[in-house]
Amino acid sequence: MRTRLTDFFGLSLPVIQAPMAFVAGGALAAAVSRAGGLGLIGGGYGDAGWIETQFDIAGDVPVGCGFISFALQERPWLLDQVLARKPRALFLSFADPAPWLDKVRAAGVPVICQVQTFRDACHALNLGVDVVVAQGGDAGGHGQSRGTMAFVPEVADEIARRGSATLICAAGGIADARGVLAALALGADGAVIGTRFWAAQEALVDERLVALTLAHGGDDTIRTRVVDTVRRIDWPGRYSGRVLRSSFVERWHGDEAGLLHDLPEQEKRWQAAVAEADPSVVAPFVGEAIGLVQAPQSAAGVIASIRAGLQKGFRPDQYSAIDS
Ligand SMILES: Cc1cc2nc3c(=O)[nH]c(=O)nc-3n(C[C@H](O)[C@H](O)[C@H](O)COP(=O)(O)O)c2cc1C
Repeated sequence: MRTRLTDFFGLSLPVIQAPMAFVAGGALAAAVSRAGGLGLIGGGYGDAGWIETQFDIAGDVPVGCGFISFALQERPWLLDQVLARKPRALFLSFADPAPWLDKVRAAGVPVICQVQTFRDACHALNLGVDVVVAQGGDAGGHGQSRGTMAFVPEVADEIARRGSATLICAAGGIADARGVLAALALGADGAVIGTRFWAAQEALVDERLVALTLAHGGDDTIRTRVVDTVRRIDWPGRYSGRVLRSSFVERWHGDEAGLLHDLPEQEKRWQAAVAEADPSVVAPFVGEAIGLVQAPQSAAGVIASIRAGLQKGFRPDQYSAIDS
């Protein structure tokens, strides 16, 4: 399938794998790129050694890298480090991308900018980024509250109104060919997929956690700040993270002040539970699309399955199950 996104990056289907912090390493990114999508390493909060290792693992396969951009403000040298690896794209989210653009452009690297509000989308368009990703609140991981369904066409219309060359992708709740086709119908040039790749075999996720999470559906996720609070990660107030609910999250959601009060004890409990993949405490970052993912697959299997669905085109009667 050809879109402006596939032409721009030389892909064989309009899918970008989300740069999931701690989850999307070189193996996942390379597998997605090899299969015809755009694979991205999840540079996240910026661990220089980890990022270097993941680019080594990806080897000769062209992959990009994403950052939680406010982390770049603390460690600006990380940008030089990543640009030296000649990434296929740089994916920036969760802070103003403006300070980094000159350097990234000078390196000839395309900039993908993920936004959560129309206002931020306009800012990204003013900056002339190559791709803007309109992320809806059903997405796994951090974000805000806009619904994907209305947010994507609002940004697509603005791009058309301006006659802008910026491409647009949709993110949030897309896990299969139906979702990709819906994104295209909303005016997007492609889709960013996180949660389905979170469950891919190459993702850096404890298998026990994947198994227990796949037993749940979209109703079992929640947007919360509990996980950031217990990990002592100080996210700007406008963002929350969509996670799988756990008893721990249920206990503290809405009582973050109480959690802060008892933080040393609760932090120990959280860390022990992470080591044990204890489902009563741990709350992996996944989106509502978890209800569409049935089993762990290889990344190539995910792409092949989406490709097969796309090849059918829009046939509602054919889409009663995932992809095919
Ligand atoms: C486990 C996980 C980690 C994520 N980490 C990041 C991140 O580090 N940086 C980022 O820009 N987005 C991150 N995201 C959000 C994705 O970029 C994307 O918007 C989202 O996964 C799309 O929605 P979906 O999960 O329904 O596919 C993460 C998502 C997940 C599921």
